[in-house]
Amino acid sequence: MTSPIRLLDSTLINQIAAGEVIERPAAAVKELVENSVDAGATHIEILLREGGRTLIQVTDNGCGMERDDLCLAVERHATSKLPEGDLFNIKSFGFRGEALPSIGAVSRLTLTSRTANQDTAWELFIEGGTKGAPKMAAHPVGTRVSIRDLFYATPVRLKFLKTINTELSHCVDCINRLALAHPHVRFLLKETDRVLIDYPSSPSLEHRMNQILGAEFVNNSRAIDGQRDNVGIKGWVSLPTYNRSQSTEQFLFVNNRPVRDKVFHAAIRVAYQDLLASNRYPVVVAYLTADPDEVDVNVHPAKTEVRFRDAQVVRGLIINAIRQTLTNHSQTTSSHLGDQAIAVLRSPNPSYAAASYPRFNQSPPSILRTGKTCVSRIYPHIHGTRSL
Ligand SMILES: Nc1ncnc2c1ncn2[C@@H]1O[C@H](COP(=O)(O)OP(=O)(O)OP(=O)(O)O)[C@@H](O)[C@H]1O
Ligand SMILES: [Mg+2]
Repeated sequence: MTSPIRLLDSTLINQIAAGEVIERPAAAVKELVENSVDAGATHIEILLREGGRTLIQVTDNGCGMERDDLCLAVERHATSKLPEGDLFNIKSFGFRGEALPSIGAVSRLTLTSRTANQDTAWELFIEGGTKGAPKMAAHPVGTRVSIRDLFYATPVRLKFLKTINTELSHCVDCINRLALAHPHVRFLLKETDRVLIDYPSSPSLEHRMNQILGAEFVNNSRAIDGQRDNVGIKGWVSLPTYNRSQSTEQFLFVNNRPVRDKVFHAAIRVAYQDLLASNRYPVVVAYLTADPDEVDVNVHPAKTEVRFRDAQVVRGLIINAIRQTLTNHSQTTSSHLGDQAIAVLRSPNPSYAAASYPRFNQSPPSILRTGKTCVSRIYPHIHGTRSL
């Protein structure tokens, strides 16, 4: 016989939601930084300790919250982001109203916030889902959210966390994705006293892309631009000769929201299929724009996936935009590979060159691109001090 049916209490409901929304520290970082961007912040500072296990603190100079809003923000299904209640016209990152209550149910959460209209800031503390009373505090206009001891209330989840460096690299990846979508925002990420990321405000997407992916990618990539029906695409794709052993450097943004999408990765594979070995991946940064009713952003609890009304249109658009660019530049090979090749040819033993580069459009040898060098280039500070 089963037990009688009963309604779950709210802390348990929030802990269950946290299981879906907050998979690891990087997911909490994502939720907090997205809230800061939604609040109009132009300066976002993230401080981590132990890869986010013991502390994740996000400080912004956004609009802040008044005392009553602060108390509401940590209630389940409380959001300021669906003013018309229209789930199919979402322009913000958040809309579910469950990130903060979920985090509050599995950690020790402190929110400190002040709006420009208030003389004082207010602070609220939540521990394992139990909310304290708001207290006056000192803080400039904006918000600081501190998550201490993430998952202390759900020890099983704690056991699933990986090493500090792995968790840290997920956090860095998360900030890079958000930074690629918001060039005007300054992002500063610190782990204890080390600065891992410092991207000053940028005048353009291209400038921000340069900050994150480096001049080497800029020199070895070409712009894409396309439109089909109500969907548009802009961005940059690497020349076939500039490639990676993993697809981790393929960034997709849908209406400026960083997402992971199978249609996107599959379309890239098709676009490069005659140009690249099947175990090599180009570097791609693509920004898709579509009317909000063309894309459903409410298909994943962590909001990291989307569903297109017409996936075939999107697929065709991506393939065509990339192919057109690659065809226009079919004579161009990667300058990176070219420089390496010239260096080898100038070496005292040129026969090595022939053995090393059988065909230019084949994947370059691992001395040029390995998962490790790729990680160390994007996350140089982490790799420079500790091995991943
Ligand atoms: N940094 C911030 N600055 C200003 N307001 C904030 C900030 N963080 C949260 N809020 C307020 O708290 C509310 C609740 O935040 P929460 O992240 O829980 O939900 P959401 O962003 O509305 O939706 P989602 O759960 O999809 O993220 C937000 O709607 C917003 O009004
Ligand atoms: Mg949110």
